[in-house]
Amino acid sequence: MYSRIAGTGSYLPEKILTNHDLEKMVDTSDEWIVGRSGIRERHIAADDELASDLAYQAATSAIANAGLGAGDIDLIIVATTTPDMVFPSTASILQAKLGIAGCPAFDVQAVCSGFVYAMSMANLFICAGQAKNVLIVGAEVYSRILDWTDRSTCVLFGDGAGSVVMTGSEEPGILATKLHSDGRYCDKLSVPGWVSGGKVTGSPFVQMDGGSVFKFAVGVFEEVAHEVLEMANMTVDDIDWFIPHQANIRIMDATVRKLKLPRERMIKTVERHANTSAASIPLALDESVSAGKIRRGDTLLLEGVGGGFTWGGVLLRY
Ligand code: ACO
Repeated sequence: MYSRIAGTGSYLPEKILTNHDLEKMVDTSDEWIVGRSGIRERHIAADDELASDLAYQAATSAIANAGLGAGDIDLIIVATTTPDMVFPSTASILQAKLGIAGCPAFDVQAVCSGFVYAMSMANLFICAGQAKNVLIVGAEVYSRILDWTDRSTCVLFGDGAGSVVMTGSEEPGILATKLHSDGRYCDKLSVPGWVSGGKVTGSPFVQMDGGSVFKFAVGVFEEVAHEVLEMANMTVDDIDWFIPHQANIRIMDATVRKLKLPRERMIKTVERHANTSAASIPLALDESVSAGKIRRGDTLLLEGVGGGFTWGGVLLRY
């Protein structure tokens, strides 16, 4: 038994915040943001929109595109760093919004690598015969954990959700997956706060050592690409589409240069979405599928890297 993608969906909140809007909020410029990150604009959730609301919109479209109903889903995995609340999980809240009950539902916390972690788990559940139709969602409202007076972080992130329904198949599907974490880098990228005694202790905002993140991301993006390609007995030439986590165009460009992969084969949405953490890969995937760019039979390499540091790759036939 293999697993394959049956359907994709995504959702972006209505409000768009451009670099020019940010120029009015902090001491920055469109030129600096575009030059350092490739980002021009990002979507921002409405005050009453939670991660589960974004997840719901993306999930219903993925389920419909898979030709299924919500009742066919037998496992829900939500990758998020910005859950609705401490508990219950955003996956359980999403389950209630979908009007289904009984199947397992849980969140994955692997920051920007969350979606590749969730996809790898969905693959294992399906291959082990424990689930048939798995709903996976990456959903984030980073606007809630940004210090909007800190120009070094607030210009880089956005809100959104992307979703995939994975289903059992006699044909692959997922060709190889590889996940990693190295907790020695915990302090390089974090929201170092926790709820205690009725208040937040530490900081509730994203803190980042930008230079370290940059170097680390490029290194492991290259490494994990070779790991999954080797596992599937394939080479870089076999990749039709590369969908890296959309953190920063300079990290993405440096990676394709190292991999010697033509830049045209890389999916790029960072310019319009900014970094949406666990949502960035499924958002880019769904946009490219909807645009008819990615077609059935194409070989895709998805790669995530994020706080932890965590990182991983999924090689698959769409
Ligand atoms: N506008 C204008 N100036 C700024 C801004 C801003 N928004 N932010 C920082 N600066 C200033 C700094 O204060 C500094 O000024 P100084 O020289 O007077 O001290 C100057 O710009 C250069 O700052 P650096 O931090 O050295 O800039 P750098 O070229 O390293 O770029 C960046 C910073 C874009 C964060 C870069 O390190 C990077 O891309 N890192 C990767 C981080 C990333 O993508 N994180 C996303 C989350 S991680 C993930 O998803 C994997």
